[in-house]
Amino acid sequence: MAEKKGVTFSTVDLSADGQRLIIIDQTLLPGTMKLLELRAQEDIREAIYLLKVRGAPAIGVAAAIGLYLAALDLAPECGDDEEVFYAKLAEARDYLKSARPTAVNLMWALDRMYAKAETSKGAGVAGLVEILKQEALTIREEDIDVCRRLGEYGLTVLKKGQGILTHCNAGQLATVKYGTATAPMYLGHEQGYDFKIFADETRPLLQGARLTSFELSEAGMDVTLICDNMASSVMQKGWVQTVITGCDRVAANGDSANKIGTSGVAIIAKHYGVPFYISAPTSTIDFECATGADIEIEERPGDEIKKQWYTEPMAPEAAKTYNPAFDVTDHSLITGIITEFGIAYPPFSESLKEIKKKMEAAKNE
Ligand code: MRU
Repeated sequence: MAEKKGVTFSTVDLSADGQRLIIIDQTLLPGTMKLLELRAQEDIREAIYLLKVRGAPAIGVAAAIGLYLAALDLAPECGDDEEVFYAKLAEARDYLKSARPTAVNLMWALDRMYAKAETSKGAGVAGLVEILKQEALTIREEDIDVCRRLGEYGLTVLKKGQGILTHCNAGQLATVKYGTATAPMYLGHEQGYDFKIFADETRPLLQGARLTSFELSEAGMDVTLICDNMASSVMQKGWVQTVITGCDRVAANGDSANKIGTSGVAIIAKHYGVPFYISAPTSTIDFECATGADIEIEERPGDEIKKQWYTEPMAPEAAKTYNPAFDVTDHSLITGIITEFGIAYPPFSESLKEIKKKMEAAKNE
């Protein structure tokens, strides 16, 4: 049998001619592997809103490339007037930011792109477009390196043969490579750790079933798909020694917003004494949010619960729905937050400050 190699297409990329954003259409997985080539801002924003590209870091990279493509398109209208260029660029930045509210990586990447342009005043409009292209590619490359480092730190808290439970998809399909929660799983797999991974299906959009169980099995890992309401059962049986999830926004006190259902998993893990880790690049930490109460939680259409994935509606038209896409895991339930600068442990309001210092020192290197 041919050796399994994993998903071989890049989750998010810039085309070789620098003219298009290339993404895997994740709404079609696992059945169909289709690449989309996008250029128009409306299409890029819609792809993010509809979760064709999704997962906090991947959304950030897609938006960074999207803003470069916006710059490319608006440059001819600006002549040599940099001020007009900045005004139009700010509009494009805000338009892309409005695609989804919770994953701070989206805002982080777009603000970083705009700041790069602002600090490059005088380069001329064509020069600024080129600078934005390079910055988008740098953000993409950094994502690979950062996720690998998450994997190296994450692996230090894991043991060979362990059962690991994860929720949603914080895998390669949510980043450029390796994933965040899955980074230690990929690295461990390379080193023969033989993890037994449990993937929650993750209602209502089934990222765990469609994406996590797909990419990990494609990579040849031992992955068992469970429904969300089975997490307690597998922990009660002693099959899970560690829980690791990704994250969309970490507040300064460690409260962490991730895919809906994560906080329930953390509560169950605490009950059974299973360590619960969040794996998040520092681009996911929002020091402006004091606590999880300050994090905006996206609400999505109720039809995602009632109709999507079914040939017939699974609930009456009249039934009301509530469909928050994320919830906040209280910092008291989190064992550690794995970042590319090390693992932060409680009290997070102190340890995350130390991570921030390391982050700033690395920026100034
Ligand atoms: O709605 P999604 O699919 O974008 O939500 C994704 C998640 O919640 C992931 O767990 C999170 O972005 C971590 S990404 C590595």
